[in-house]
Amino acid sequence: MKVAVYPGSFDPVTLGHLDIIERSCEIFDQVIVTVMYNKSKSPMFTVEERVQLIKDATKHLKNVVVDCHEGLLIDYLKSKEVFIIVKGLRAISDFEAEFQMASVNQKLCHKIETVFIMTRTEYMYLSSSIVKEVASFNGDISNFVTENVQLAIASKMGGNNE
Ligand code: PNS
Repeated sequence: MKVAVYPGSFDPVTLGHLDIIERSCEIFDQVIVTVMYNKSKSPMFTVEERVQLIKDATKHLKNVVVDCHEGLLIDYLKSKEVFIIVKGLRAISDFEAEFQMASVNQKLCHKIETVFIMTRTEYMYLSSSIVKEVASFNGDISNFVTENVQLAIASKMGGNNE
């Protein structure tokens, strides 16, 4: 069985992430979406909330498992005996950081391969941070995230985002 891990902060999951998950599901027999604790970011949602939001948004996909991990990604991969990482690649600006992460992960464990899926052009601009920024000014985020995520953001922001 070909299994891949799609790791990320997913704070929160966007339509761009979901597009990568859906397309990964066509390529792999199982996709494990893993919410990673990222120490360099201060999140809006707890890891448990992010896991639940992804579960809700991927109910229609039978070969998705949602999980979380604190620590090194390679330790998680080894514990699952999975050696394929899937990442979405947006603009060229993503490349340097992604190249660095893929290279470090492969240096830490030579069996690991990172597979990049190019983001669809309609999601090139999309990030969790931009969604939170638009929402913070009460902007319309309905083109960026699913309804459950819209509601969750609205409730975090005191219900002032429709
Ligand atoms: O969605 P993000 O924030 O771009 O995802 C980055 C993430 C969480 C996948 C990355 O920071 C990560 O793998 N963190 C876990 C710690 C780790 O393994 N670091 C060494 C490899 S870069």
